[in-house]
Amino acid sequence: MLPRVRAATRKDIPEILRLNALLSDFHVRIDPYYKSGEETSGGFKLVLENLFDDEKTNILVADKGNGLAGYFIGMIQPPKPFLRPEKTGRISDAFVEQAFRGRGLGEKMFDRLVEWFKENGIRHIELSVDARNPEGIGAWRKYGFKDFMIKMRLDL
Ligand SMILES: CC(C)(COP(=O)(O)OP(=O)(O)OC[C@H]1O[C@@H](n2cnc3c(N)ncnc32)[C@H](O)[C@@H]1OP(=O)(O)O)[C@@H](O)C(=O)NCCC(=O)NCCS
Repeated sequence: MLPRVRAATRKDIPEILRLNALLSDFHVRIDPYYKSGEETSGGFKLVLENLFDDEKTNILVADKGNGLAGYFIGMIQPPKPFLRPEKTGRISDAFVEQAFRGRGLGEKMFDRLVEWFKENGIRHIELSVDARNPEGIGAWRKYGFKDFMIKMRLDL
């Protein structure tokens, strides 16, 4: 049975931290420029605890009964001086455990976030994905995202 998608509660914090550390480690394997889960977990714990008090943030989890199989975080961003929309949505975190990937769980959490964004008057959603992450890029394209900006880095 597919894990059940629901809103996160504070009780989920330890499991979300575990999944966030896996997300960090996933990125380290792409490029050691990223910090590992061990390095990011302290800072992320503080951020996450505050996000639960923020009505402009929506944290969704996929509950497998004995823990979480994934989580998505969506947030409403203030206007940017160079963009026309007064507010935009952002997906800051998206992770599904390896064993549950490719079964539409990510899409379920994404669809729930889209509903919430629409209810809040959001017409555009932005996100960043590593250019060397075909899995992530493939999922976002499947959900309808189009390339918008290219983020560049020069190593000196
Ligand atoms: C991105 C992620 C959250 C998607 O979750 P999911 O539950 O597997 O997503 P879905 O089942 O809804 O969709 C999977 C889609 O990803 C795409 N995909 C998966 N692996 C892919 C690959 N190697 N190359 C290209 N596209 C790929 C496909 O479009 C696939 O759709 P399909 O199964 O119909 O072909 C999950 O793969 C994940 O956690 N990846 C590692 C972390 C990550 O990349 N997070 C996003 C960072 S921005």
